[in-house]
Amino acid sequence: MTAKIIDGKAIARKLRAEYHGRVDVLRSRHNVTPALAVILVGDNPASQSYVRNKIAGCKEVGIRSELIELPTTVGETELLDHIERLNNDASIHGILVQLPLPAHIKVSSVLERISVEKDVDGFHLYNMGGLVTGNTVFSPCTPYGVQKILEHENIPVEGRNVVVVGASNIVGKPTALMLMQQDATVVICHKKTVDLGNFTLLADILVVAAGVPNLIVPQIVKTGAVVIDVGFNRLPDGRIVGDVDFDGVKEKASYITPVPGGVGQMTVTMLLHNTILSAERAASATTSPFRRRA
Ligand code: GUN
Repeated sequence: MTAKIIDGKAIARKLRAEYHGRVDVLRSRHNVTPALAVILVGDNPASQSYVRNKIAGCKEVGIRSELIELPTTVGETELLDHIERLNNDASIHGILVQLPLPAHIKVSSVLERISVEKDVDGFHLYNMGGLVTGNTVFSPCTPYGVQKILEHENIPVEGRNVVVVGASNIVGKPTALMLMQQDATVVICHKKTVDLGNFTLLADILVVAAGVPNLIVPQIVKTGAVVIDVGFNRLPDGRIVGDVDFDGVKEKASYITPVPGGVGQMTVTMLLHNTILSAERAASATTSPFRRRA
């Protein structure tokens, strides 16, 4: 069996064209331009590159972006003051603080200061907790991107065995909860899992976000499985690879995402979606006789 290679770029392109249309409607009907504020602390080159991508994505679909660059030495109070100002600015619909933050800043204090209604990253404790009950205000972007890929390819989730490899707060745990909400049978594996293959071989859908190149080899993949590779690793020779032995596993799987060109494009796309959704909610709250929820 040779897998269908899922073209994340093409899916992202199609969704972004749709989102551009939604931005046009917000402008013409409500005189609202969706806006995303991005706070970048320090000069981590990877973070700078991610932020550049996010800002370019905004431009592509007509979202206004505001970049706030702060030095590594910035105090937590000053950072929280910036967030408070953005929370109170009605022209801003999404607030994103790029992670990681310098060690002297408490990440949870920062993420929890962001208004839940502007938490387009979905990292606020309320949004995280909402994943348990299926009541998020915004879904976290990478897991949401994985869900959208499965939807786009008409891959059913209900009743299927999903194995998520990686238990991070940003990807593994929320992906597992979102797919469980869709009635999949979900297992999460992580660094301490003994005999990973015992679990991955059961997976109809295998989602891998471990940060370990070549962790998933064909021997531990079920024939016909759907393999979604969220890994993004730079090898010493500069090549970017995922966590899956792509060439080997593509001969055994039914679907597979490449790295790059798979899930990566979808993360920023879902951030754009969440920002537009936030602007739509704000616009309908100002035109509706009913108040939106607090
Ligand atoms: N750092 C790595 N991934 C992310 C992300 O999705 N959002 C934010 N804010 N920071 C990150």
